[in-house]
Amino acid sequence: MTLSSDELQAAAKQHLWMHFTRMSSYSSGDIPVIVRGSGPYVYDDKGKRYLDGLAGLFVSMVGHGRTELAEAASKQASELAYFPLWSYAHPSAVQLASRLAELAPGDLNRVFFTTSGSEAVESAWKLAKAYFKRIGEPTRYKVLSREYAYHGTSMGALAVTGLSSIKHDFEPLPPGGVRVPNTNFYRAPEFVADDEAKFGVWAADEIERAILREDAESVAAVYLEPVQNSGGCFTPPPGYFQRVREICDKYGVLLVSDEVICAFGRLGYYFGAERYGYQPDIITFAKGVTSGYSPLGGMIVRDELMEPFLTGTATFLHGITFAGHPVSSAVALANLDVFERDNLLGNVRANEAGFRATLDKLTDLPIVGDVRGAGYFYGIELVKDKATKETFSDDESERLLRGFLSHALFDAGLVCRADDRGDPVIQLAPPLICTQEHFDEIEQILRSVLTEAWTKI
Ligand SMILES: Cc1ncc(COP(=O)(O)O)c(C=O)c1O
Repeated sequence: MTLSSDELQAAAKQHLWMHFTRMSSYSSGDIPVIVRGSGPYVYDDKGKRYLDGLAGLFVSMVGHGRTELAEAASKQASELAYFPLWSYAHPSAVQLASRLAELAPGDLNRVFFTTSGSEAVESAWKLAKAYFKRIGEPTRYKVLSREYAYHGTSMGALAVTGLSSIKHDFEPLPPGGVRVPNTNFYRAPEFVADDEAKFGVWAADEIERAILREDAESVAAVYLEPVQNSGGCFTPPPGYFQRVREICDKYGVLLVSDEVICAFGRLGYYFGAERYGYQPDIITFAKGVTSGYSPLGGMIVRDELMEPFLTGTATFLHGITFAGHPVSSAVALANLDVFERDNLLGNVRANEAGFRATLDKLTDLPIVGDVRGAGYFYGIELVKDKATKETFSDDESERLLRGFLSHALFDAGLVCRADDRGDPVIQLAPPLICTQEHFDEIEQILRSVLTEAWTKI
C-alpha cells in the first residue's frame, strides 16, 4: 500500500516517534519525508531534491541508490537471511572480519560485531572491564572521554558521552565516566592559545592528570574520536595522539579510538587512527561500514585483549542477536568493494583541500567564526562577534538554530546539521563521492542562508 503525502504526514504525526526530535516543532509544519536517494542527493515525497551534506547521519559514504549493495543484500537474504554469531559463524561475517582485520592498523585483528555504534562503544567498555579482571587488575573500570564528545545513547555509552545536556533525564548512569578537555583550539585556554602544538600537549597532559586524580589503577580506558564530532569537528593538534598513546602506555590504560564517524573514508583513510599515526587498542565502528544499506557496528581489538578469552572456560559473556547479521555483513563487503573500485579514499584525499577552501570562503561573513575539520568532515562555528569570538546566548541560539537555520537550510535544499550542544555549529559530512560542484552548491546555500540569518540576530 502506498500512502499519499497527506496520509504519510497524518500517520507520522500520530504514530512515529522521531529520535532526538522536539515533536512539538511539527505540530503545525510538515515532517520532512525523504523517499529516495541517488548519488549525493535525496528526494522528498513531493519530488524536491536536497544535497545530502551529512550523508544521512555520517553514514552514506558511497552515496544513495547503489544497486550493487541492494543486490548483495538480496542475494544474502535469499541464501541465509539470519543466523547468530552465538556459537556459529557464517561466511559473510567471517570474510568481513578478516577484511577489517587486514585494513585495521597494527595487531587489531579480532572483530566483535554489534548492530550500532552505541553497542560498539558499550562493548568496548565491557571488554575493558572483563579483560582487566582476567589479567589481575580488577579495580580498573573508569573511562575517560572528552567534553561534549558524543559516544552514543544506551546507558553505558551515555556514561561515556560528554554532553551533560542529554544525560540529565537518564541519571543515574553507570558509574565511571570521567571528562577531560576536548581539542577545540578555537577556544583554547589563553595560556596555550598562541600555539596549537602547545595546546595539544596541554590537552593530552590533562588526560594524565585525570588518570592520576582518579587513581590510575581505577582507569580502564580513554575514548577519543580521531576528529571529535560534537562541538564541531575538533581536529587533534599535532602530536596530541602520540602523547596520549604514551600516557596510556605509562598507566596501562586502553586507548579506544571511537571511529563510528571517522572510519571508512570520512577522513580519507579506512581508519582515522591511520591519518593521525597512532595505534589504538580498540577501534569502534558503525555507520559507514555499510554506507547505511543495512545496520552494522562493531569493535576491532588487539590480539592481546582477546588472549584471556581463548583458553579453558573463559568466555566474553556478551552478545547481541543481530550483531554481524549476514545481510549487513554481505552489504559491508560489497560496500568495501565499491570503495576499492571507485577509489573513494583517493577521491577524498584529492578533493579535501578544495572542499576546505570552498568552505573557507564563508569566513568573509560576519557570522562565521571558524571553519575546522579534515577529510570530508567540517564544522562551521557561528559567532555573534568575530573579533571577540563572543557566542550566542541560549535564547539567541534557540532562535537562530532551531527557529531559523535548521529549516532554512533544508528549505534551500541542503541536508546538514545545525547543532548547539556546544557552541553553535553547522556540521557537514557529505558522501565521499562528492566533488567541487557539490562543494560549490553547499557554499552557495550556506552563504545565502547565513547572510539572511545575520539579519535576524
Ligand atoms: C563517535 C560516535 N560514537 C558512537 C555513536 C553511536 O552510534 P549509534 O547511533 O549507531 O548507536 C555515534 C553516533 O553518532 C558517534 O558519532
